[in-house]
Amino acid sequence: MHHIARYTHHSAYSTQPHMGLLMEHFSIIQALCRAAIAEASPATRKQIERLRDAIAKDGDPKQSAALSSILTTADRTKELSPSRIERSKSIVAGEVLTRNTPLPVDRETSAALADIFFPSDIQASPPLFNSRVSQAIRTIIEEWANFDVLSEIDIRPSKTCLIYGAPGTGKTRLALWIAQQLDLPVVLVKLDGLVSSFLGTTARNIGNLFAFANRHRCILLLDEFDAIAKVRDDPQEVGEIKRVVNALLQNLDIRRDVGFTIGITNHPKLLDPAVWRRFEVQLEIPKPDFEMRKAIAANFMPPIKAPDVHLRLIAWFTEGSTGAEIESLVRTYKKATTVRAEDKRGLLDTLRQFATLNAARVQSERRALLFDDTSNLFRAMRDDPILGFSMADIGEIAGKDKSTVSRQLGRAAKSENEVTNG
Ligand SMILES: Nc1ncnc2c1ncn2[C@@H]1O[C@H](COP(=O)(O)OP(=O)(O)OP(=O)(O)O)[C@@H](O)[C@H]1O
Ligand SMILES: [Mg+2]
Repeated sequence: MHHIARYTHHSAYSTQPHMGLLMEHFSIIQALCRAAIAEASPATRKQIERLRDAIAKDGDPKQSAALSSILTTADRTKELSPSRIERSKSIVAGEVLTRNTPLPVDRETSAALADIFFPSDIQASPPLFNSRVSQAIRTIIEEWANFDVLSEIDIRPSKTCLIYGAPGTGKTRLALWIAQQLDLPVVLVKLDGLVSSFLGTTARNIGNLFAFANRHRCILLLDEFDAIAKVRDDPQEVGEIKRVVNALLQNLDIRRDVGFTIGITNHPKLLDPAVWRRFEVQLEIPKPDFEMRKAIAANFMPPIKAPDVHLRLIAWFTEGSTGAEIESLVRTYKKATTVRAEDKRGLLDTLRQFATLNAARVQSERRALLFDDTSNLFRAMRDDPILGFSMADIGEIAGKDKSTVSRQLGRAAKSENEVTNG
């Protein structure tokens, strides 16, 4: 009795100040809740609801609303993928990976041979590709998500996919996103890391790694596959590399009946044909075309709102560039527009800076135009049908009014006539 009284007294006396102290650190609590809800059990969810209600009762209503929103966002994400989760649970057997699962390591260096990514670690939005590639990706996801149904009617669905294309085209991000769509964790292996400096241990590393992946429910992602091929060129190591490639082939064959595997390479030509053949689906990721480049630029732009003419010009100048390069250009653009909001010529300067620092990546004709006389640049912009720029559009980019631009173009046209006539 005495105890209870003391306890009640104690809590009545101290919860208020404690609550205040905790709420000073509300941003941490919020982050904790967000992290917890990603893979929440019903019990975790219940506790977040309790916290929300407690704060609603005697705390800051804004904070309680923030927790509500974390809960509803989690619900909405779940609604988007209800059947998917049920299905993929059954397709891949094996122990469940957790953040505490010990990873296989290289015996010489003790470095981990793989990284694990959980669905909640992965960006929810897919990389952007043209409709042909997107359609192919959807097919793979559907096939893998319906693996059981397809197996029942005796169609042998593919379990292996090779993604290849230029560096920076979004291959790794795509593979992770596919795994997220299937709600499976990823065991990501960078093969260049796996090729141990002690070549003798490489075959063993490969064996350990596949054994680990086969034991768990996961997608095995073999990134930078060409690393193995590259070492093959070293004449001193011929025998050893043969052993490594054989280990890889053997393990791929065993894995085929166990779980999904995605391989990624920048240099499909370097890949051993026998390795290449092991992959049932071979997906080439092209460099983005004009419309995709514009879409990728728009995708990386928030919170900055760029006018449509800017996005179009960015897409125009990044002809031949990859998503990664566009992402970095947009980052420069965002910095420039934030720091020098009043400077209307920001975009052209940003493009010049990009073209200087990425000289080899920018198509040479467009690059030359940037550093040429502006009237030539304006004329090229006006005359390219894919841009479809009006005088006003060019004016907006150049930070000049329409008539100044026309005058400048007129003068250029006149001097050109003089050249041809004279
Ligand atoms: N098509 C795309 N859509 C959206 N973002 C893209 C696209 N392509 C590349 N990116 C961005 O570029 C960056 C690099 O992408 P990623 O690492 O997936 O490329 P990669 O093809 O694996 O390159 P590498 O061959 O060099 O490993 C990421 O930040 C990604 O968001
Ligand atoms: Mg990559």
